[in-house]
Amino acid sequence: MRAEHDQVVLVDAGGFFPESETQRDAGPFLMKSMKELGTVAANVGDKELAFGYAFLRQSVRESGMPVVSANLYEKKTGKFAFAPYVIVPAGRTRVGVFGLMSGKVDLGPGRDSLRVVDPEIAATAMVAEMKKKGATAIVLLSQLGKVESEDLVTAVEGIDVLVTGRNVPMLQRGRVIKNTVVCYGGEQGWYVGRTSLALDAAGRSISGENDMIMLGPEVEAKPAVFEVVKAFEDALNDRLRRLEKERAAAAALTAETSDGEAVDHFVGAGVCGRCHKAEYQQWLTTPHACAWQTLVDQKKEATPECVRCHVVGYQKPGGFQTADDAARLGNVQCENCHGVGTQHEAYAERKAAVPEPVCRGCHDGTTSPVFQFALYRPHILHQVPANMPALPPNPAKAKMKGAGSH
Ligand code: HEC
Ligand code: HEC
Ligand code: HEC
Ligand code: HEC
Repeated sequence: MRAEHDQVVLVDAGGFFPESETQRDAGPFLMKSMKELGTVAANVGDKELAFGYAFLRQSVRESGMPVVSANLYEKKTGKFAFAPYVIVPAGRTRVGVFGLMSGKVDLGPGRDSLRVVDPEIAATAMVAEMKKKGATAIVLLSQLGKVESEDLVTAVEGIDVLVTGRNVPMLQRGRVIKNTVVCYGGEQGWYVGRTSLALDAAGRSISGENDMIMLGPEVEAKPAVFEVVKAFEDALNDRLRRLEKERAAAAALTAETSDGEAVDHFVGAGVCGRCHKAEYQQWLTTPHACAWQTLVDQKKEATPECVRCHVVGYQKPGGFQTADDAARLGNVQCENCHGVGTQHEAYAERKAAVPEPVCRGCHDGTTSPVFQFALYRPHILHQVPANMPALPPNPAKAKMKGAGSH
């Protein structure tokens, strides 16, 4: 984009912090990377506050990545928690960027020290102030979700661009609502949006349009950035592996009842295969039998967010705990579909039926958006039907491979 256009301003709608405590270092790391890419402002949402106000402030300080929030205040001082907006020159225009978050969300550990004021009142005041300070184009970064964001730009005049975040759908082309170009980015950081504005002589926006570009494998990584990301992920994986070992020790203790009697546990496909040879041989031919290797190839075999659907009984007593269990409990196996092996006698009562919700536990809207039970089922049956219909292409696969995480 920078090669094609000389007036580029890069912003982030917020909501990029990781969800789990084990991944918290990814938050400041992403901020450093955004700074590196020349991002001029990122918005604050409840995700960014999930590890506390102090943690976010420290991340801002250490990364130098500016964040904006026009309706988040410190209770004690009555001051803005972060800068409400930034104004950046871009060629002959001056772009004012401000951020808003929802008042309806949980502020996490910050709930006692922070306060969110009405987004519409804040927006009206900010647009006026930024214009007074010379901004000729106004950009709102929103963590209000789709409906509330759209209502806001309908009610508040003067916002040229709205970048929406927080559970919004991905729309290949943005919409124009009244005079605002709206960009819908989807989730997971899989897309980058391009909003182009036509400007008048004074640098004010006259019209605009938006489209989304998928960051699939065909968008190559910059070698220098790739190195930094890899170093970070390797360190994170090392730490996750250590945590996994600690959890395993705890789980080993709970795998026995208080009388020292063994409780139900997963046995692994090797054991089932001793008696059900045909089913075992057929299973080996399905992608389920290499689901663990898929994660190893992606270097995600210690990332809890990935492992749970690619192994047997993740973190359950008697199930997969660490990579040491991979030989026996790695991959999607018999027991993912039929249930825990030590309850074998119950299988007969169920007449081997594997109902659709079992598949849906892993084939969900993110990983398998094109999943249809009737179409997928024949592909895993132990007697594969003749003339089996082909599966539709699954666009999520390229993203899981390319972007590394979802
Ligand atoms: C010691 C041999 C043996 C082992 C080990 C074994 N099974 Fe079985 N399984 C049987 C027998 C015998 C039956 C009942 C007769 C039949 O339907 O073949 C059965 C029945 C089943 C059925 C129900 C078939 C139906 O429709 O009634 C399923 C499903 C099944 N086993 C899966 C498994 C899985 C999964 C494992 C591993 C966790 C496993 N079995 C381990 C011998 C074994
Ligand atoms: C424990 C999670 C899990 C469950 C349960 C599960 N799957 Fe899967 N499935 C996966 C994973 C992971 C893959 C991808 C494996 C790989 O290629 O690494 C996959 C791949 C597949 C594929 C291959 C798709 C392709 O594009 O080639 C089919 C077909 C499939 N699953 C059908 C089913 C059906 C039908 C069910 C239910 C009866 C089911 N799966 C249950 C996790 C699961
Ligand atoms: C909710 C369960 C779930 C989680 C969590 C999950 N996966 Fe998957 N994954 C699947 C399923 C299901 C498929 C198969 C999709 C299909 O073909 O329908 C799959 C397929 C894949 C594929 C494509 C394999 C192929 O056939 O080419 C890759 C790569 C992959 N996953 C990596 C990951 C990574 C990396 C993570 C963590 C960031 C992850 N998965 C987390 C369920 C999951
Ligand atoms: C992706 C899910 C899935 C996996 C993995 C899976 N099965 Fe099945 N299995 C099924 C389905 C579906 C049926 C057919 C029953 C039904 O209508 O749901 C079935 C049926 C069976 C039956 C009944 C007889 C037959 O062949 O239809 C046995 C026995 C069986 N499976 C054993 C196994 C063993 C052993 C493994 C592991 C080596 C295994 N299954 C892995 C889904 C699975």
